[in-house]
Amino acid sequence: MKRNLITLFLIKTLASTFYKRNIMKQDFLHITDFDTNEIMETLDLAIEIKTKLKNNENYKPFKDQSLAMIFAKPSARTRVSFETGFFRLGGHALYLGPKDIGIGKREAVKDISRVLSGYNDMIMARLFDHKHMIELAKYASIPVINGLTDFNHPCQIMADILTVYEKKGNLNNLKIAYVGDGNNIVHSWLNLSLRLPLHFTCVCPEGYEPDNNLIKLVNKSNISTVEISHDPIKGVHEADVIYTDVWASMGQKEEVEERENIFKNFQVNSNMLESTGKNTFFMHCLPAERGREVTDDVMESSNSIVFDQAENRMHAQNAIMVKIAQAL
Ligand code: CP
Ligand code: NVA
Repeated sequence: MKRNLITLFLIKTLASTFYKRNIMKQDFLHITDFDTNEIMETLDLAIEIKTKLKNNENYKPFKDQSLAMIFAKPSARTRVSFETGFFRLGGHALYLGPKDIGIGKREAVKDISRVLSGYNDMIMARLFDHKHMIELAKYASIPVINGLTDFNHPCQIMADILTVYEKKGNLNNLKIAYVGDGNNIVHSWLNLSLRLPLHFTCVCPEGYEPDNNLIKLVNKSNISTVEISHDPIKGVHEADVIYTDVWASMGQKEEVEERENIFKNFQVNSNMLESTGKNTFFMHCLPAERGREVTDDVMESSNSIVFDQAENRMHAQNAIMVKIAQAL
């Protein structure tokens, strides 16, 4: 009898711990998972951790912890920045490539969630279908970080805004002109404009606009101004930043040739960069297809901050991971 009661007590305690942990855990699937204060705190924390790492300080918040990294798509920056970042903060990161896991194919997403939760402290995933990302997070009892889906790329946008913040010293009255396909990067900018006041213009060919419901949501929020322009010259007028990305994203590469023709007037070249009437930064999430969406000279110009942006992936993500670990 006593043994049964103890067993029952243990089961209840474990269940409530698990339940609490599940409810309390903080995922990072969209930049809007953080409120405005949390985003600003993350930027300051990123700068603080970046300084510590540059000074070789002994800062190991993830000592003896492990990060599972699921990649259903290729990656250079996301893989290396997470793996190196987590290692430098004291932990160990595991790379699980498309052939290792086969998420949603070899095994159900919700099964992988619970299996990985049993071994690890955090999951980072790059997936095709955004619904799979939501499902992964729903069934995981540990925090899940979105390392890109077909819908968005929140870690990228945290690194991007960190880079602008460092370069300009503030985020006041910022005019961002994104030129190209209305893709996952644009959706992340739109999400960010629900948290920080921005003047955001997406300059794209007709038919390649970002998600209309998201645009409506941003416009309704009255936090930022969002415009869609099909005019590559007017659209970049007075921009502080011109941002571009590949014309065909991962999963769309068979459309490269067709898109090359449709997007040809939307190439970021020195004429466009000089036409803004301002000293405009050039940004690109990378990988860049030089000669398509951006010319070689713009990539190499003194206005280009693409490699600061790439380095900041690691610093922004380190801060995101520390922040969500603190929320546990
Ligand atoms: N920007 C970015 O996410 O790069 P990778 O695809 O190389 O990870
Ligand atoms: N839009 C690009 C971003 C790569 C970081 C893609 O999804 O392929």
